[in-house]
Amino acid sequence: MSEELIDPDIRVARTLPSVFYTGQGEFEELKSVFSGWQFAAHKSELESVTIQPLNHIEDITGESMVLTKTDEVRCMSNVCTHRGMRLAISECDKKTLQCAYHGRTFDLKGNFRNMPEFEQATNFPSKKDDLPQFPIEEYLGMYFTSQSDCEPLPWGALKPRLDFLNIQSLKHDPTRDRDHQVSANWMLYVDNYLEGFHIPFVHPELNQALDYSGYITETFDGGVIQIGKAVEGDLKFDLPPGHPDEGQDIAAYYLWLFPNMMFNFYPWGMSLNLVVPVSTNKCRILYKGYVGDSELAEQGAGSILDTVEIQDQEIIEMVQKGMYSKVYDRGRYSPTREQGVHHFHRIISNLNKVNK
Ligand code: FES
Ligand SMILES: [Fe+2]
Repeated sequence: MSEELIDPDIRVARTLPSVFYTGQGEFEELKSVFSGWQFAAHKSELESVTIQPLNHIEDITGESMVLTKTDEVRCMSNVCTHRGMRLAISECDKKTLQCAYHGRTFDLKGNFRNMPEFEQATNFPSKKDDLPQFPIEEYLGMYFTSQSDCEPLPWGALKPRLDFLNIQSLKHDPTRDRDHQVSANWMLYVDNYLEGFHIPFVHPELNQALDYSGYITETFDGGVIQIGKAVEGDLKFDLPPGHPDEGQDIAAYYLWLFPNMMFNFYPWGMSLNLVVPVSTNKCRILYKGYVGDSELAEQGAGSILDTVEIQDQEIIEMVQKGMYSKVYDRGRYSPTREQGVHHFHRIISNLNKVNK
């Protein structure tokens, strides 16, 4: 039996070899993981519009898609079936999708409706002239879509913890949105997100709001949840009776879903980090804010998000440089603080095995 790249026993395991963060071949090979479930939009982003182009998914996967709202929410191709023009350029509340190139028109279910100068075309229109549809899944007002056959999202397992958050009632607040360019491989951003080990060293301000000794990491198929405990007197969740964490002072839930989605839940609402892979040593972090209670947003672990984000990015840009070292290749994991990173590396190395 060949030795596993990442040993299942964290106490003996070594981290991913640095070529995973620098190699062009590794970068290209891992791109396929992004065609699984991706966050599309929150319900509040469809409140006053009927057409919402998913530009971030195009950035992440290269596929142009659009959400439309009629009696239900659908996800479909945003590419005109005539000669490939992008259909929706920005969000709007129109009742049809009309191509700005030669005027082909579709209804919001994706059916071809009409097209000038095609009277003499035979066998036209056909099914091929309709817009291809993508699957859509909703959880607590958040819509997800995918471009490949993949396992369902692990919301079932998360329900007991997250249902009380009332995510469906949050409102998108565009003033909180950010688009950060980071000079590091996307997996370094994920590695960093998956451990609170660095908090006392890298985030002095956050460290004041979190009780580091009570920080918990739990891994499950397809993701990791980290639980940050509040320090005495700081902002915490009001947990309902019977909640799995009842009786504890929870400041934040940090949820990562493979490969690139991070949901940060605070008493005031939710922030979302979507990682866009750009090249072996560049990524973008699309950051979005959804608010339930804007007064609370100025307090506790979620109030210093910009500071924390910049501190993280500066660190991982330096780690990226370390990945080019000729004398560094792999490290070891802290068995008590790096279970999340180990779990992520296991997923990556298992994919790698399947692809070989
Ligand atoms: S490309 Fe859309 S109508 Fe021609
Ligand atoms: Fe951090």
